[in-house]
Amino acid sequence: MGGTIRFGISLDSELLEKFDRLCEERNYPTRSEAIRDLIRNELVQREWQDQNQEVAGTLTLVYDHHQSDLAQKMIEIQHSALDVIISTLHVHIDHKNCMEVLVLKGAVKDVNDISQRLTSTRGIKHGKLSLSTTGKDLI
Ligand code: NI
Repeated sequence: MGGTIRFGISLDSELLEKFDRLCEERNYPTRSEAIRDLIRNELVQREWQDQNQEVAGTLTLVYDHHQSDLAQKMIEIQHSALDVIISTLHVHIDHKNCMEVLVLKGAVKDVNDISQRLTSTRGIKHGKLSLSTTGKDLI
């Protein structure tokens, strides 16, 4: 981690007003904190452009557990990616719907591959991969 550097930004006044409203809505205590988060978010997005970069994220799946063979198929797919799936959380949402959250860590291509294989499984109602980072290259 380097030292803290202060720098000025020239900005259109209306754009700054909009930014200040956004900071307020998102509860940022200062513009600096908001800008830091925006920069980090861009850097995380960029990590995901490199197929070999190690990343972390979560995959959320919603499905009806009555769907025939679905649970078995999901288990088989998950067992084929032991190195990428770090942890899973299963929640019974109601009588028929289940939510499964998988914590994933690995190369972008492997995380995307397992996410796509699970999301596209017949019977999955919704699958959403949330991109995050291992944090190793972030400050
Ligand atoms: Ni369940």
